[in-house]
Amino acid sequence: MENQYIIKGGTPLKGEVTIGGAKNAALGILAAAIMTDETVTIENLPDVRDINVLLQAIEGIGATVQRINSHTVKINGSTIGNITIDYDSIRKIRASYYLLGALLGKYNKAQVALPGGCDIGSRPIDQHLKGFRALGATVTIEHGMINTFADSLVGNHIFLDVVSVGATINIMLASCMAEGRTVIENAAKEPHIVDVANFLNSMGADIKGAGTDKIRINGVSKLHSSEYSIIPDQIEAGTFMVAAATHGDVLIKNVIPKHLEAISVKLIEIGATVEEYDDAVRVSADHRLGHTQVKTLPYPGFPTDMQPQIATLLALSEGTSTVTESIFENRFKYVDELARMGASIKVEGNVAIIEGVEGFTGAAISAPDLRAGAALVVAGLVAEGYTTIDSIHFIERGYENFEGKITALGASMEKIPVDDERAVMKFKLKVG
Ligand code: EPZ
Repeated sequence: MENQYIIKGGTPLKGEVTIGGAKNAALGILAAAIMTDETVTIENLPDVRDINVLLQAIEGIGATVQRINSHTVKINGSTIGNITIDYDSIRKIRASYYLLGALLGKYNKAQVALPGGCDIGSRPIDQHLKGFRALGATVTIEHGMINTFADSLVGNHIFLDVVSVGATINIMLASCMAEGRTVIENAAKEPHIVDVANFLNSMGADIKGAGTDKIRINGVSKLHSSEYSIIPDQIEAGTFMVAAATHGDVLIKNVIPKHLEAISVKLIEIGATVEEYDDAVRVSADHRLGHTQVKTLPYPGFPTDMQPQIATLLALSEGTSTVTESIFENRFKYVDELARMGASIKVEGNVAIIEGVEGFTGAAISAPDLRAGAALVVAGLVAEGYTTIDSIHFIERGYENFEGKITALGASMEKIPVDDERAVMKFKLKVG
């Protein structure tokens, strides 16, 4: 049954929230875990839909997946009997293409369905394939499947034409057991790249330079078991930071403040208070914030995965702001939904021109994709009256117990079945 969120806006968020493990690191790490025949234990896994779907795909190729609890899993790749990932898995979660790099790196062959476009635009994977070819693999695309095989993979010097998180991770996976040395130039520098590299190194790989634009990988003959805890999710943390900056005072715990700097700096610039601790940030604002310009860029720039959330905040701030999306071509679909709540945003090409309004009013809206959906939740929390958000399966791809964490901060938000008038009435009676 499809669910929706119902929110009664207007209550400032106050209190503490604990951030879970990074989804986009976990996706690379789970794929990497199948590369040894020994058992790998992964902790601090977020319990979100994308992770659970990838775990099913991993089970689907015959690996043993043992869920110890909702945040810990043991994986054993010695039982893999199949090197094909079909379209059904890829359709549900694009990142199952990390199994292409992992299977190719381990067995010298893999067959994975070619992902199509997605909710945020066309998403080519030419750089992934260029990397595999540079390592000596033959790559063909037939009947919607990418087929790769190699007699042996040999390290090479690879220069990425675009900075790509996915290509950087996939090439690290494919090359860590290749013969000799691989160098990835113009590599992505996101925290999750570093986490995947650290995990592979904990399994015996020899990867240096992750977090810079030049990653050097010395091939090793095999990988071994490991126990590893995933880093905190930069984007879940950033989403709570922005929600707190609309009006509130929230201590966001279990974060790495360094990973949040691009977000912190923007929030401070427009007038919010951000205090950094060793593994927490506290964000508060008790007045209407100011305007600014934001442009999304690869890390350490402002993350595209925070673009809808910051635009929502700026839509409530004083004056005219601009938000430029330079990574994905179709990441402004939430603007029409925000307009229904009273926002004034005009999109011209890849720039959103935002005239701040004093407030939003609640409306029935729909989540167009994961991060846009989270931004609409932030909007609903501020809006006067009730907001319902449907298509929340997008939001559940990346936010664990979103409604629970938000309710614990004092706001009124519930997950209820779509088209259930009684549940709506019950919520309204409860929150008044
Ligand atoms: C990752 O996607 C994240 N997903 C995205 O998060 C995130 O928005 C994105 O990086 C940018 O930070 C995962 O980690 C699973 P890219 P990815 O390859 O790897 C172009 C979320 O909300 N490109 O860095 O697919 C591409 O079109 C998701 O959690 C090529 O041209 O992103 C884009 O313009 C959404 N050829 C740019 O590079 C290629 O071969 C960056 O994409 C690969 C990418």
